[in-house]
Amino acid sequence: MSDTAKIIVDDKTYELPLVRGTENEVAIDISKLRAQTGIITIDPGFKNTGSTQSAITFLNGEKGELRYRGYPIEQLAENSDFLEVAYLLLNGELPNHEQKQQFETDVTRHTLIPEDMKQFYEAFPSHAHAMGILSSMVSSLSTFYPDSQIPNRAKEDVQLTITRLIAKLPTLAALAYKSNMNLPYMYPDNSLNYVENFLYMMFAVPSEKYQMDPVIVDAMNKLLILHADHEQNCSTSTVRVVGSSQASLYSSISAGVSALWGPLHGGANQAVIEMLETIIADGGDMDKWINKAKDKNDPFRLMGFGHRVYKNFDPRAKIIKKACDDVLNKLGINDKALEIATHLEEVALKDDYFVERGLYPNVDFYSGIIYRAIGIPTDMFTALFALGRLPGWIAQWNEMVDNKEPIGRPRQVYVGATKRDYVPIDQR
Ligand code: CMC
Repeated sequence: MSDTAKIIVDDKTYELPLVRGTENEVAIDISKLRAQTGIITIDPGFKNTGSTQSAITFLNGEKGELRYRGYPIEQLAENSDFLEVAYLLLNGELPNHEQKQQFETDVTRHTLIPEDMKQFYEAFPSHAHAMGILSSMVSSLSTFYPDSQIPNRAKEDVQLTITRLIAKLPTLAALAYKSNMNLPYMYPDNSLNYVENFLYMMFAVPSEKYQMDPVIVDAMNKLLILHADHEQNCSTSTVRVVGSSQASLYSSISAGVSALWGPLHGGANQAVIEMLETIIADGGDMDKWINKAKDKNDPFRLMGFGHRVYKNFDPRAKIIKKACDDVLNKLGINDKALEIATHLEEVALKDDYFVERGLYPNVDFYSGIIYRAIGIPTDMFTALFALGRLPGWIAQWNEMVDNKEPIGRPRQVYVGATKRDYVPIDQR
């Protein structure tokens, strides 16, 4: 097998090295292309561009395969819990008993946030979106822990920042909810595990005993695991690019939260439920909405459908659909939105437009229905995605730092006005 690719420009042939991954993915290394030829490549949306060589997550979009550090997502979702998966992503190996215990203890110790931060919550308007609050709060952590700003810090300092982030994000997210609802804040209860503690801070009130439902804890763990990493997606690439300037880890993660918020990315989970509610309120005419999604003059898209890399099915959606059925059955909930979603999926999967373009339900098509069933308000859905994605973002940031990757700085092909002279305002 050849280890170079040839490109011919103006009758001149250039040889470029090929890079092969452990799963036989092949890439042309163009890092010296401009130096050799004066030419750059152009690839809007980076659809064909590998920005890095990564050892964290493997996915095969054609076969619908997803693995964290080599372990299939199906096995992790079935057998593991979120903190164990976080450890795996961050450290490359599954923890033994002792390592797991230590990790859980470290995370548990750092769940409190600085008391002064409560004043920020009081200053946000009551309708503030949880993702706006979360991104601001994560960024503000850098002001409370200014050491995190120093580039090339000692490993122990970085580890402390990582632990703080994993431990504090649930507290920050739950407080965003309590603050919007004008309810008293619940301090973390460190006798609870990670997921239980988050649910406690969200739903407990001081005057009542909070009963934890194991079905809900299990569903939450699954959802967080399924979201924990997804290689070089929009928010992860954002984290790596921001981090590549040696901005603090807090700032990089805050940028990742902002990137995740958009409805084409993590914000789709909220957009799906809003879409299903609109369809129900409109009388439930599926064909009408399918036709709107196909109409190029109509901005409407079927939210929760399609994916940049999965063109046959999204393996996470398969697991989530089953989890969704289980949760609704176990909780005895009959949700009209699930009925509409299942119907919409059936109609779309038979439609040539969706088949030809490889548009299938993605991870967010069913996740919102589970979140709703377990009592999470719609504008908190994407914040839960952020909780899940956090270990992936951090693992990817770590990898970028360890690999000493250069600052992210793409080039462009300029297509604007050519040089022209300034004209004084009264002569225009
Ligand atoms: N409804 C209708 N048409 C669609 C949809 C959709 N949801 N998604 C893609 N298309 C069409 C698109 O119009 C285009 O058609 P044509 O070739 O005729 O111009 C074709 O399919 C390819 O679409 P694209 O926008 O070029 O594909 P992309 O890879 O750039 O976009 C996507 C991927 C996820 C942004 C897109 O499928 C989409 O907008 N989906 C809805 C939003 C959504 O559910 N996002 C969550 C993704 S999963 C969570 C995560 O990991 O971020």
